Amino acid sequence: MAPTPDLSVALVTGAASGIGRAAAQALAAAGHALVLADVDEAGCRETAQGLADARIVRCDVSVEADVAAAVRSAVEAFGRLDVLVQSAGIEGPVKPLVEQTAADWARVFAVNVHGSFFGLRHALPVMAAAGVGSVVNVASVAGLNAFPLHAAYAASKHAVVGMTRTAAVEMARAGVRVNAVCPGFTDTPMVTDGLRRTGQSADDLVRRIPARRLGTPGEVAAAILYLCSAAYVTGQTLVVDGGLDAM
Ligand code: NAI
Repeated sequence: MAPTPDLSVALVTGAASGIGRAAAQALAAAGHALVLADVDEAGCRETAQGLADARIVRCDVSVEADVAAAVRSAVEAFGRLDVLVQSAGIEGPVKPLVEQTAADWARVFAVNVHGSFFGLRHALPVMAAAGVGSVVNVASVAGLNAFPLHAAYAASKHAVVGMTRTAAVEMARAGVRVNAVCPGFTDTPMVTDGLRRTGQSADDLVRRIPARRLGTPGEVAAAILYLCSAAYVTGQTLVVDGGLDAM
């Protein structure tokens, strides 16, 4: 896909692994210069291998100053910021809601909700000043539906969907679009580590998915790329889940 002429610099959080890594690689292939932000700098260096124009920023998205610095570094390095993909996220505790603690919820919300909020808070004014920009928040089908044993995670992703829609409406006149992608079960370390921790098998998951397989990070990245360039699409949640949400 040729680069969209007015969208050329992208900041990707969670870029060291999984969906964030695949999104960064897809954006680079489409001609974007990149800032890769993650707590895992070594993982970002792996993502950056073979990419023409990539900067790496160590960034804990739950720390507002880190997110502000990541946005600043995109502007300092490349003079602009056109795309923000917010993929940094954690699964949190896997146990019944009544056994989850306030500390469990605080950590999940710090990363998944406050992290996404900080990204919007610092990137949107830069985009609005330029009169163009696109944000894709990585929510989840758990942001639209129940996810048993993952109450904190599901609540955090519902919050991401709510802030996506609200930011989209607030920013529409400024020429800035804000959408969310809602993946189902995708073959990344989040899922494989989760299976290992809970002793579940991949077959247990796959049986619940109409497509009878996990999604790939590249398939989610393709949806992210679509949202980055879909000029009249804003405030939407694009589900990429092999049919799970349709059940
Ligand atoms: P992953 O575990 O492979 O990647 C997550 C990345 O986020 C890692 O590089 C990690 O270092 C980074 N990260 C974690 N906490 C951070 C923090 N405080 N600051 C900065 N970076 C941080 O997981 P995956 O699957 O690629 O997840 C990406 C996003 O997709 C997450 O928001 C996740 O909730 C969402 N998602 C994943 C699904 C799946 O089945 N894998 C399904 C639906 C949504």
